[in-house]
Amino acid sequence: MIEFNFKFTLKQAIGENGLEVTEIRSLESDLVQARRNLNKLRRNKDIGFYDEMNDTEMVKAVKEVADRLFSKDLNTLYVFGMGGSSLGAIFLKEALGGIFKDSGNNGNMDKEARKNGGVFHKKINVIFSENIDPGYIYKNIEKIDIKKTLFCFVSKSADTIEVVAQFFIVKEMLQNTVKNYKDNLLFITDKKGGFLRRYADENGISALDIAENVGGRYSIVTAGTLFPAYAAGFDIDKFLHGAISYRDNILNKGVFENNPVYSLAAIIYLYYRQKKRNIFVINVYSDYLREFSRWFRQLFAESLGKNLMSPTPVTAVGATDQHSQLQLYMQGPQDKLTGFFCLKNFRKDYIINPSGFKEYGYLKDKKLSELLINELKGVELALAALGRPSFRVTVDNMDEFTLGELSFMCMEMVPVLGMLLKINPFDQPGVEKGKKFAYLLMGRKDGFLGRQSPSLSEELEELSRLDNMADLTY
Ligand code: PA5
Repeated sequence: MIEFNFKFTLKQAIGENGLEVTEIRSLESDLVQARRNLNKLRRNKDIGFYDEMNDTEMVKAVKEVADRLFSKDLNTLYVFGMGGSSLGAIFLKEALGGIFKDSGNNGNMDKEARKNGGVFHKKINVIFSENIDPGYIYKNIEKIDIKKTLFCFVSKSADTIEVVAQFFIVKEMLQNTVKNYKDNLLFITDKKGGFLRRYADENGISALDIAENVGGRYSIVTAGTLFPAYAAGFDIDKFLHGAISYRDNILNKGVFENNPVYSLAAIIYLYYRQKKRNIFVINVYSDYLREFSRWFRQLFAESLGKNLMSPTPVTAVGATDQHSQLQLYMQGPQDKLTGFFCLKNFRKDYIINPSGFKEYGYLKDKKLSELLINELKGVELALAALGRPSFRVTVDNMDEFTLGELSFMCMEMVPVLGMLLKINPFDQPGVEKGKKFAYLLMGRKDGFLGRQSPSLSEELEELSRLDNMADLTY
C-alpha cells in the first residue's frame, strides 16, 4: 500500500507560500481532460504501458527464455542498456535485492516452481552497464566468468550507439573465449527494431520483444525490465499485479476521490506554474529507494522537459543528504517543492543502547528506524515552519506488489502533469542534436540525419564553428 500526505503543501500549514484546497480542486476539469486524453491514446494503441502489463504471452516468454538460458551453466546476467532500458531493472534490483528478498533459495533451479510459472529460483548474479566508461566495464568483466555469463542487450530501438558499441566489444570477447557463444547472448528490443534485432534474427540469437508502443522510460512493465527482474529471483507476476490493481483502482475513481495521482500532479503543476518553484526534489529516506529516485527522475525529466517547461527534478537521500544539501533546501532560494519517499516497514532494525552515556539517555530503547523517521519528520516540520512545501509518499512494504503500485503511480502522474503543461510526455526530441554531433565527431557521414534536419554540410559547419572556438582552459 502507498500513502500520500500533502498537508505541508497547504496554506493552513505553511502560510502564504501554500496552496488552498480550492486551488487544487479548481484543476478538476483539466485533470479529467488529461485522463481522457491519455485514455484516448491508450484506446488507439498509441501508448502501450497501460495494457502491456496484462500481456500474459510476454510474461510467459520472459520466463521461458530465462528458464531455458539459465538451465545451462550460466550464473551471471550482465545487462547493457541506456536510460529507460535499464533504470527500471536497476531500481527493482536495488529495492528488492537486499534484505527484502524473500525468494531465491540460493540452490538449484526449483523445477516445480518453474513448471507452475512460479518464481525463478536459481541464484543469478545480475549486473548492469548503463554507461560506457571503459574502466567500469573492465572492472565488471574482470569479476565475472565470461563463459558463465549471459550478456543481455536491452534497446527498444535496437540501435542505441552505446549499447551497440558494447555489443561489439562483448562479441569479440566471446568469440575469443566461448565455442557456442551465441548461447551467451540475449537481445531485448522492439520486434521490428534496428541493428541488434536484425543481427539476432540473422544469427539465431535469442531475443525478446518490447512492445512497439511502449517507450523506454515507461518500459518497467516490459521484458526489458521483467527479464532481469525474473533472473534476479523476483516475483514478476506479483509486481505486475501491483501495477494492474493500482491502475484499475485509480482509473475507476474520480480524480479527487481518494486518488493521490491526480492531486499530486495538480500540486506539482500549481507549485511550478503559479508559485514559480522550478525545482522538484525527490528525497528518499531509504537506501533501498535510491535507485527508485534515479528511475523517477528520468521518467520526470525526459517526459516533461520540453517547450521551455518543467520543474527540474533533483534527487537526495535522507538522512545522508541532510549533511550535504539540506542547508540549501532550508535557506536557499524559495524555488523548491520536495517530495519525500519513505518506508514504513524496514524489516530489520536495531535497538539503541546508550548505557553509560548519560547525555544520550534519550536514545535508550529507541529503534534506529525511529531516528531515521523522526529526522525526516524534523525536516518536514522545519521546512513547513519556513514556509517551504513538501509532501510525503510512504511505501508500507518493500515487496514486488507495492513497487508495482509505486511504479504505476509515477507512470500515470507524469503524463497527467505533461497534459497539464500541454506537452507531449512520450517523446524526447531534444536529445537528438547531441547524438548527431557525437556521430559527426566519430566520423559518421550518412544515414542518420532526419528529414527535417539541416544538411550534413550545415551540421558540420555548425559543429566546427563551436568546436574550433579557442579553448578557455587553464
Ligand atoms: O526513455 C527513453 O525513451 C530513453 O531514455 C531510452 O530508454 C534510451 O534512450 C535508450 O533507448 P533504447 O531503448 O532505444 O536503446
